[in-house]
Amino acid sequence: MKIANFKNSIPNNSDNFYLLKLFIKKLIDQITIQRIIDSAEIVDVIEDFVSLKKRGTNFLGLCPFHNEKTPSFIVSPGKGIFKCFGCGKGGNAVHFVMEHEHLTYPDALKFLAKKYQIPVEEKEATPEEIAQINVRESLLILNSFAQKYFSDKLMHDSEGISIGLAYLKERGFQSHIVNKFQLGYSPEKADTLSNDAVNSGYKKEYLLKTGLSIESEKGIFDRFRGRVMFPVHNLSGRVVAFGGRILKANKEVAKYLNSPESEIYHKSDLLYGIFFAKNSIVKLDSCYLVEGYTDVISLHQNGIENVVASSGTSLTQNQIRLINRFTKNITVLYDGDMAGIKASFRSIDMILEQGMNVKVLLFPDGDDPDSFSKKVSATELQTYIEQNQTDFIRFKSQVLLDDCKNDPIKRATIIQDIVKSIAIIPDMIIRAEYVRECSILLNTKEDSLYFEINKIHTARKGSTAQKTLIQSNIQNSTAPPIPSYVSQIYSEPEEKEIISFLFNFAHLPMDETLDLETGETKLLKVAEYIIKDLEDEDLEFQNMVYRKVFEDYQKFLYQGNILEDKFFIHHEEESIRMLATDILSSKHSLSKFWEKGGALVEKPEDVYKQTIPRTLIIFKLKIIQVAIQNTHEEINQAQKNNDLPLLGELMTRFSTLCEIKKILAEKIERILTP
Ligand code: CTP
Ligand code: MN
Repeated sequence: MKIANFKNSIPNNSDNFYLLKLFIKKLIDQITIQRIIDSAEIVDVIEDFVSLKKRGTNFLGLCPFHNEKTPSFIVSPGKGIFKCFGCGKGGNAVHFVMEHEHLTYPDALKFLAKKYQIPVEEKEATPEEIAQINVRESLLILNSFAQKYFSDKLMHDSEGISIGLAYLKERGFQSHIVNKFQLGYSPEKADTLSNDAVNSGYKKEYLLKTGLSIESEKGIFDRFRGRVMFPVHNLSGRVVAFGGRILKANKEVAKYLNSPESEIYHKSDLLYGIFFAKNSIVKLDSCYLVEGYTDVISLHQNGIENVVASSGTSLTQNQIRLINRFTKNITVLYDGDMAGIKASFRSIDMILEQGMNVKVLLFPDGDDPDSFSKKVSATELQTYIEQNQTDFIRFKSQVLLDDCKNDPIKRATIIQDIVKSIAIIPDMIIRAEYVRECSILLNTKEDSLYFEINKIHTARKGSTAQKTLIQSNIQNSTAPPIPSYVSQIYSEPEEKEIISFLFNFAHLPMDETLDLETGETKLLKVAEYIIKDLEDEDLEFQNMVYRKVFEDYQKFLYQGNILEDKFFIHHEEESIRMLATDILSSKHSLSKFWEKGGALVEKPEDVYKQTIPRTLIIFKLKIIQVAIQNTHEEINQAQKNNDLPLLGELMTRFSTLCEIKKILAEKIERILTP
């Protein structure tokens, strides 16, 4: 059986037009659509309806769309498509559901969203949105036209063959790989593409918007001339931009010319090769990061498909996030250039910051992934990569240590530098492993490494006073501190509840933490946890009686003691005595924790461990909410007064507060559904 029809897995435009038409009235946002498409693994989707057997890299089954006794229905997980060689039906996972369940495109998407538990919100499209989709779609269609145009020139035009194709052949790119990456050639003549496109009915406006053409007094002419063309595909395989490589060794002209940013191309959000790599990244649970177009293509030619390129610029947060959607493991492949390696340390810190695992791999002097993969066989290349990748922190330590040659002052700054990378890692346990390892590598005590890490953490939190050296697990989440300009409000129920927690649970265990001074894990008790949490945010109780109680706990804690409730029942101040007796006798707000007999409820497990953080967050949320309202009013005022500088500041403040609110709200959800 032939499966030649699988060759072109890149979606065609009619597909998207269909989608476009159906979405004009009700809109599912683009990100959600992409999430659905990315989640809908074709075998997983089809297996709900058809029993499939593995055949090589594909799956085989009886076609559900016509009657057959011998299977001719093939599913290709790598390409994400199905095809029946009996009746001819084929397409991607969404098409399968449409066909099988007789659904429209949006309804099929919703069907899959349900299966993969992706929330879908629909909204009415505004006329502007419809217009915008039309522009985007037009730009994509034009780029698809240009891609075919360039490929056609490369394969069939005499200039393209003799210059472009000859160049690619000489560099060792085989034709199957040239086809796969849809490489092309742009002729030397100034206006070939522009003219052909306009003659084929494409609007000048879109030629300029995609950056394929440039306008001058004399009219429009081609941006790319006499270059080998590398189309850049987005996650769903559509061409959003081009890179064009010059063929002559001309020092005056940049080697690569790239499409400008446009409505469909945001360079900093995309990685070259991600469309061709995503399946392999998921399958192997790892991703190689290289520099250039040719590195990606050469690795593919050698059977390594989980590879993307940052295209020469330094990595952005969004690009890392893109990889993070598919795997937590990145290996950065370097050519042997030390200056480049050191310059990349900052981008690698960004990867660590997103909680990913980073390895690095050095190629022998002078070789990049492209040149090296041309020198060795596919197996040799794979072995080399597997055997030579090193953990980043270890690698960084070695590179920097080699540099300092026992100069003690340099050494000290190196330790700082490495600790900085470790401190970024969000996971406490992984951090601890690195501390252990680096203490050996750098011949430094773990304690002093923890001390440095702690300094970085407190500095980052913006609090100068090292009130407590305990870094709590729950605390160590990403919620930004409440800004100092937020003024506190009085929120009786929360203040009272927090005091009740102290009276009732102060001694109970709350949270495992790592003591950064000693490197030992220790158990944080409820009182320590609450006090630390409020101290970190510089929050105080507004009710003076509650504040006094809190300060007593605080004072005693600094001396290493946790107060007993007896202390308050016999307190010298009457108001505090009253409060303590009131709370401890009625156990009013805590009644849900106590059984009738007065024993602490054991089920669900340690409810207070969830209720305490929850109350603390609600406490903060109320404060933030009021701050948001106040800022809103101030914005209105500033608008009336036309005070633009103030307005700018208030807007920033407003969005910061909203962001904090969002994070706090998310934290509550996580507590409720652990
Ligand atoms: N790049 C660019 N503009 C340049 C040089 C480089 O946009 N003037 C980007 C390209 O995306 C390129 C990447 O940086 O792929 C890496 O640069 P380089 O290693 O010089 O290019 P290669 O892709 O390796 O190309 P070649 O092997 O043909 O030199
Ligand atoms: Mn290169």
